[in-house]
Amino acid sequence: MSSSDFIIFGAPSIHQDEIDEVVDCLKSGWIGTGPRVARFEKEFGDYKNHRFAAALSSCTAAMHLSVLAAGIGPGDEVITTPMTFCATVNAIVHAGATPILADIDHRTMNIDPAEVEARITPNTKAIVVVHFAGRAADMDALTGIARRHGLKLIEDCAHAIETEYCGRKAGTFGDFGCFSFYATKNVTTGEGGMVLTRSEEDLARIKMLALHGMSKDAWKRFSDEGYKHYFVVETGFKYNMMDLQAALGIHQLRRVESNWRRREEIWRQYNEAFADLPVTLPAEPDKETRHAYHLYTMLIDEARTEITRDQFLGLMTASDIGVGVHYLSLPEHPVYQERFGWRPEDYPNAMRVGRQTVSLPLSAKLTDGEVSRIIESVRGVIGQARSAEKITSEEISMGDGRKTKKQGAMSQERGGCGQPFFALGT
Ligand SMILES: Cc1ncc(COP(=O)(O)O)c(C=O)c1O
Repeated sequence: MSSSDFIIFGAPSIHQDEIDEVVDCLKSGWIGTGPRVARFEKEFGDYKNHRFAAALSSCTAAMHLSVLAAGIGPGDEVITTPMTFCATVNAIVHAGATPILADIDHRTMNIDPAEVEARITPNTKAIVVVHFAGRAADMDALTGIARRHGLKLIEDCAHAIETEYCGRKAGTFGDFGCFSFYATKNVTTGEGGMVLTRSEEDLARIKMLALHGMSKDAWKRFSDEGYKHYFVVETGFKYNMMDLQAALGIHQLRRVESNWRRREEIWRQYNEAFADLPVTLPAEPDKETRHAYHLYTMLIDEARTEITRDQFLGLMTASDIGVGVHYLSLPEHPVYQERFGWRPEDYPNAMRVGRQTVSLPLSAKLTDGEVSRIIESVRGVIGQARSAEKITSEEISMGDGRKTKKQGAMSQERGGCGQPFFALGT
């Protein structure tokens, strides 16, 4: 099998509409922040039934600016989950505040509201909620805690574009809702992000901070309306989205629902195909919620599967299937251990999930044949591991008749968001 048969984890589904729009944008002479970004903001806001939306360079930027716009800084504490990408915590740190972790519910993998409440101190200023894998967090409980304690609520919706909770869309519960359009996300602009704000003032401040702290509408300074002077009113950042990125996003957004339906179908196929395996499958979506089906995560418990999680990763990669880890719990990382004294065992649910979890490809781009190959490989790797004495580097059949000795890439060899590094370059 050639490497062109490698199933890239999170490969985006790009159609001719996106390609044509990017080409039109390139030919238009205006590739930076401009009319296409304004259109993407309006259409994303319409999708979310929300008025205040600003497109940015990433979800990380959206979260950094949300924490700043919430008035949070040095001396303040912000409570968040250990089961997330490092960007969630880094955004808090870059605003000068101290992140405090609250463990997850092991079933939903979302932050446990009781753990949040237990960590509130007089210094707590905000909660950052992640809708993990696209599953809505317990927003009744979390908005209640925020209200009772006078805390800001920031939603990290990197996985949660289509997520709903009791009929309301994720990202519209909090003071700020932050979205990612990274290459593997449900809607992609390559790199990119969006923030929804509750107030027009917060939106204006975020837009200003995203463009060096220059006064309003500074991006229009070279437009055909004539040159506009601008003034720098804060020391801001360079976090704006380009029209080139929005050209992709506008058309991606138009297919958000059909792509969602395709991922739901694949999700159901995986659930059926793996029902008899000794692995833990994702919990069913909770009642009155809509799951975004961003990640399909399985737990590999060596005691049941007779194979370690990392061996499973290696064998799947060796059978030309890109897999991800979402995530090692944040306290596993040296920088946070050194800076905040975090220890994985203090957040046992997140630690266990982080050491056992594997994400399978769930892109709307997957063909039926590729889904079948993934299913056969998972069944082959788990089934044979159980019948083999011990997996070291001996031959393992990959479910499609092939044999391999390769152990493949381990989680440390992956780029952000579970993409193999080489896939990022392709
Ligand atoms: C939960 C979570 N938060 C934040 C981010 C950061 O998103 P971005 O890459 O757009 O900055 C990611 C990216 O994968 C994520 O998964």
